[in-house]
Amino acid sequence: DAGDIEKGTYPHYMLKEIDEQPFVIRNIITKYKDDNENIKLDENVRQAVLGADRIYIIAAGTSYHAGLVGKELIEKIAGIPVETHIASEFLYNMPLLSQKPLFIFISQSGETADSRGVLVNVKKLGHSTLTITNVPGSTLSREADYTLHTYAGPEIAVASTKAYTAQMAVLAIMAVDAARASGMEMNFDPLQELGIVANAMEIFTEQKDVLEQIARDYLSVSRNCFFIGRAADYHVCMEGALKLKEISYIQAEGFAGGELKHGTIALIEEGTPVIGLATQEKVHLNLRGNMKEVVARGANPCMISMEGFQEDDDNIVIPKVHDYLTPLVSVLPLQLISYYAALHRGCDVDKPRNLAKSVTVE
Ligand code: G6P
Repeated sequence: DAGDIEKGTYPHYMLKEIDEQPFVIRNIITKYKDDNENIKLDENVRQAVLGADRIYIIAAGTSYHAGLVGKELIEKIAGIPVETHIASEFLYNMPLLSQKPLFIFISQSGETADSRGVLVNVKKLGHSTLTITNVPGSTLSREADYTLHTYAGPEIAVASTKAYTAQMAVLAIMAVDAARASGMEMNFDPLQELGIVANAMEIFTEQKDVLEQIARDYLSVSRNCFFIGRAADYHVCMEGALKLKEISYIQAEGFAGGELKHGTIALIEEGTPVIGLATQEKVHLNLRGNMKEVVARGANPCMISMEGFQEDDDNIVIPKVHDYLTPLVSVLPLQLISYYAALHRGCDVDKPRNLAKSVTVE
């Protein structure tokens, strides 16, 4: 119950939960580390991942966005093919399945009815199931074969923040565990790299004025906003756009930078805010090219880059973290920009209209 969790000095749960993210990540590191500083993970989960010829991630909302990042992590780190699906779509439109699928349900609450519908169906087919959730003992956790806990603590604000970063952290740990168990050479140590992530997150939780100012300058009166990125940045853009829609009611869209010119760029007008995300080594220059295209059509650009790839006029530069883990850090400025945009526009940040924290009906 929300009443049991204190907001303390915070005006909103959302702001408190954004601030908790470095602690959540450090908590996850502790929970998933054994006495020898190695990854500690349930042997059954390890075997379930290793036994899969393909992983199907099923989720809704923000958890779906974590699943999109999860696909990239698992494929790049463990070499297992992954598909990420929206639960409500998968439910009535199941794709062809592989021979030995593992279903991973990502759900903060563990109660989302669309995801549960899929779980019930695939269990009937005899498939292996794992739930990654913030609420062990929830329906999805009880009904799946295995559970991984995200240890983010209760999330009260309707707009999900710390659960998202926690889900991605656990997915990264799970992927490395599987890779090591199958004998792959691995020079990426997720427990160590997540420590760097936690420190990088603090840059934003401790210096919010820049983000409040960006929200004021770009979003006080605008009707819409575009977030563009490529590769992992694209998925973070989708989450940034969802955050802004949910709490500020500004129409927002997260877009793949290179796809803009195939239609969406028609919407760019004089002053349209476009937030660009460029943290990915392979594509950050391409994204800068996409930003030039929208600026040429009058857009008001806000550029977020990463140390090492930054240019002089960038609005925000995130500290250098491992390429795999940039979404855990780059989402923080987007969460905070959304928070302040909603605040400035007088919206009810923690309880946005028409939305529920957990949707237990189909
Ligand atoms: C609701 C919430 C979203 C959340 C989604 C999935 O729509 O408003 O914030 O991302 O459900 O919830 P889950 O608990 O399954 O992660």
